[in-house]
Amino acid sequence: MKVYLETYGCQMNVSDSQKLLTLLAAAGYEAGEDPARADLIIINTCSVRDKPEQKVFSALGRYLPLKKRRPGLVVAVGGCVAQQWGAALQRRCPDLDLVFGTHAIDRVPALVVAVRETRQPAAVTDFREEIPSLDVVPAQPPGAVAAFVTIMQGCDNYCSYCIVPYVRGREYSRTSAAILAEIRALVSRGIKEVTLLGQNVNSYGRRPAGEIGFVELLRRVDGIAGLARLRFTTSHPKDLSPALAAAFGELEHLCPHIHLPLQAGSDAVLRRMGRGYTAAEYLEKVAALRRARPDIALSTDLIVGFPGEKEADFQRTMDLLEEVRYDTVYSFKYSPRPGTRAAALAGQVPDEVKKERLRRLQQRQDEITAANLRALEGSRQEVLVEGPAKKGAGRWVGRTPGNRIVNFSGPAGLLGSLVPVKITRALRHSLQGELD
Ligand code: 5AD
Ligand code: SF4
Repeated sequence: MKVYLETYGCQMNVSDSQKLLTLLAAAGYEAGEDPARADLIIINTCSVRDKPEQKVFSALGRYLPLKKRRPGLVVAVGGCVAQQWGAALQRRCPDLDLVFGTHAIDRVPALVVAVRETRQPAAVTDFREEIPSLDVVPAQPPGAVAAFVTIMQGCDNYCSYCIVPYVRGREYSRTSAAILAEIRALVSRGIKEVTLLGQNVNSYGRRPAGEIGFVELLRRVDGIAGLARLRFTTSHPKDLSPALAAAFGELEHLCPHIHLPLQAGSDAVLRRMGRGYTAAEYLEKVAALRRARPDIALSTDLIVGFPGEKEADFQRTMDLLEEVRYDTVYSFKYSPRPGTRAAALAGQVPDEVKKERLRRLQQRQDEITAANLRALEGSRQEVLVEGPAKKGAGRWVGRTPGNRIVNFSGPAGLLGSLVPVKITRALRHSLQGELD
C-alpha cells in the first residue's frame, strides 16, 4: 500500500512526518510521490503563521475528490491545525476520514485501520501526559549525513503572539538514555552531524523532573565517539545560561552557530510579547557567547508590526541588526493567531506598514548577510560534505561549522567527509570554494 504525505511548517513537523512514515512502513505502507495512486493521504499542517486553514482546505479540495475514484482511499489531517480544529474540520469537510493531533502520532497506523474497517470518521486530539511518539526513532533518508534528534516537545512560555503552547501542549522532555541511544545508533549508521531539536531546548529536563539538564546533555552527546558535529535549535534567550554560553568554548564538537530568536528590538514591544528579556539583556547573552567563541555565527527570528509597534520601536529592531550583525534572519509580519493574547491587543498595525517595515528590514539584512559572507573570502573552512550540489556535475555541497553553505568541485566519494575548503567567492546566500 502507498502513503502520500504532505508536510508544512517547521523542522518539528518534518521530524513528525519522518516518524509517521517510519510507523506506517512497519504497518506495510510505502511512501509514494503521487497522491492519485495513494491508499492513504496525510496532510501534516502548521499553524504558526500565515493563513494555515486556507492551505489545508485547498489541499483537501485537491485530495478529497480522489476518494470517488479510489473508494478505499483514507484522507487524514494531522499537526497543529488538526490539533486546533479537531472534529470541526470534519464538520466543514464530511469526507475527511481522520484528524489526528500532535500527541496522537503513534496511534495513526491503528486509527487508519479502524477508519478503513468501520468507514466511520475519527478525530483524536487529546493532550496526553506522556508523548509516546517522542521515542519513535525516524528512519533517515539514504545517504543522510546530518540528522535531527528530538529531545523535547511543547512549550510553557506563552509568548503573547504564539500559538505553539496551545497546539503542541506543555513542555515534555525525552529521557537522556533514549536520546543518547538514538544518537549512538545514528552515528553507527554513518550520521556525522546531529541537531538536537525542541521548541525550547534550554528547558530540557525540567519536566518530567529527575533528568539531567541541557548543558549536561550536550556534554554527553559531545562525548559520543564518531560524532563530528553537534548543533541544537531552538534556544530561548531568557533561558540561555552562562554555562550554556561557556559550553561553546568547551565542547569539541559543538558548532560555532546559534539560532537565538530576538523577535523585536524595542523593550516595550518585548514586554508586550512576554519574552522575559530586554534588548540589553539579549545583547549581554550575545556578548557571553562571543566571549566563549569569538567566531560564533548568529541567526534569529524577527517579527515586524506587532500590535502597538511604532516607527521608533521598529528602529530599535533595525539598530539591533547593526549591533549583532546576524548571518541569517528569518523575518515575518506579525499575524494574529486566534485565542492568543496579542490578537486581542489594541493598536494592530496596518498591513501596508508591516509590509514596508519588513521590506526595509530584509533589504538591510541582505547587505549584512552579504558582507558577513564576503568577509570569509580567502579563508579556509572545514566543510562537512552533505551531498552532490544542485547544479554542476562533480560539484558538492556542504556546510561550514558556522552553518554557511559551500559549493565546490571535488572527486567522487566525498559524501560524509570533512574536507578543507578555501573560500573563493561569496554569493548572496552561500559560498563557493575549492578543495584546499
Ligand atoms: N506572527 C508572526 N510571526 C510569528 N512567529 C510565531 N508566531 C507568530 C505570529 N503570530 C514567528 C516567531 C517564531 C517563529 C517560529 O515564527 O518569530 O520565532
Ligand atoms: Fe512560541 Fe514563545 Fe514558545 Fe517560542 S518560546 S514556541 S515563540 S511561546
